[in-house]
Amino acid sequence: MVTVVVGTQWGDEGKGKIIDYLAGGMDIIARYQGGGNAGHTVVLEDKKYIFHLVPSGILYPDKICVIGNGVVVDPVSLFEEIDGLEKNGISVEDRLFIAENAHMTLPYHKILDQIEDRFRGKGALGTTGRGIGTTYADKFNRIGIRVVDFLEEDVFMEKLKIALELKNYLFREYYKEEMLSPERIYEETKIYRGRIKKMVRDVHRYLNEEIEDGKDILAEGAQGTFLDIDFGTYPYVTASNCIAGGACTGLGISPKKISRIIGVAKSYTTRVGMGPFPTELNNSEGDFLRKAGGEYGATTGRPRRCGWFDAVLTRFAASVNGLDELVMTKLDVLTGIEKIKIAVAYEFDGRRYKEYPFNTKVFLHCDIVYEEMDGWSEDISAIRSYSKLPVNARRYIERIEEILNVSIRMVSVGSSREQIIVR
Ligand code: IMP
Repeated sequence: MVTVVVGTQWGDEGKGKIIDYLAGGMDIIARYQGGGNAGHTVVLEDKKYIFHLVPSGILYPDKICVIGNGVVVDPVSLFEEIDGLEKNGISVEDRLFIAENAHMTLPYHKILDQIEDRFRGKGALGTTGRGIGTTYADKFNRIGIRVVDFLEEDVFMEKLKIALELKNYLFREYYKEEMLSPERIYEETKIYRGRIKKMVRDVHRYLNEEIEDGKDILAEGAQGTFLDIDFGTYPYVTASNCIAGGACTGLGISPKKISRIIGVAKSYTTRVGMGPFPTELNNSEGDFLRKAGGEYGATTGRPRRCGWFDAVLTRFAASVNGLDELVMTKLDVLTGIEKIKIAVAYEFDGRRYKEYPFNTKVFLHCDIVYEEMDGWSEDISAIRSYSKLPVNARRYIERIEEILNVSIRMVSVGSSREQIIVR
């Protein structure tokens, strides 16, 4: 059985914690898109782990973790992470596999990502600078380098030369930056070849065989629905399909094999980087959420923009992902707020929008129709049963369920593995 976990906002919904929680009942945890831009946080025994490329199930010593073909793999970031885990006594040997057809993020992708975002001027996206968009651009431009190409020294060198041809022209003539030599990149990356070789597998075949065998697989999404390249707030998005459908193309499994789709939503909304954000709070309430929620980027450390829960967005996420259920995270952060708001519609130019509008003009300049709910003041972080939650907290959850028409089956009330209420 395959279960997909997907973000329903702009990423940072707390997927890492939920995946870690669910991984206990799974055999395999497989990442299907994104790359080192992700920052999935898991807290175990008071120790905080941040995963960028390694799937969030790795803390269970008996689980197999897989990096699918939809992921872009930066070997520097990957081995930094693996070495960090091994220092903490967590071995990935014989249980972390990489798809041979995943594309590789190489030094020039990262350099170009940072330069390109600077050159966008007013249109800067505020990318993570991890070379994500530039790696996917090469993939779609058919000049990318896959893991399987990297393993063959002569093929790698030939492809490097092709990939660098136009880039070096741009570096020299337009960006006025130093050119990159294929030989140097070849030399700098060769230390990873032997290590990667041991992890490479034909992941799609492996997963399909395991599915046939009745194994439980958790497909781990990174970022979130509104950072999806097709359905997000384009162009302020990442470069991959974060939505549940991405699990099929990013792992090589048929849509027929997916049995359960779980969305993760924070009890309020956050966003890192540029782009429209209708319910953003540029005031003391936003500051309160940032402080109480520790809202600073797990990958870049940037302060996250904070705002009210936007049910217009999550309703769309429920539909485009086909959510079976929702997990609400960080409910504890709302404790102490007297009046909590939920966005239920947008208004622009005399028209009411209950659906997420693709028109950027509407999304940028709309007025928000809010519903206001009474808050609660009790500390809820030690509560483990739904009925013990303050009545106003339950009302908040149940109102969101009603608006989205999706059940909220789990509520997270803190960062550690145990701080979860399962209904
Ligand atoms: P990129 O993915 O580095 O190209 O960045 C594109 C946009 O997606 C920027 O606004 C980033 O801040 C945002 N982004 C990328 N990865 C994440 C994530 O894991 N969580 C939240 N935002 C992200």
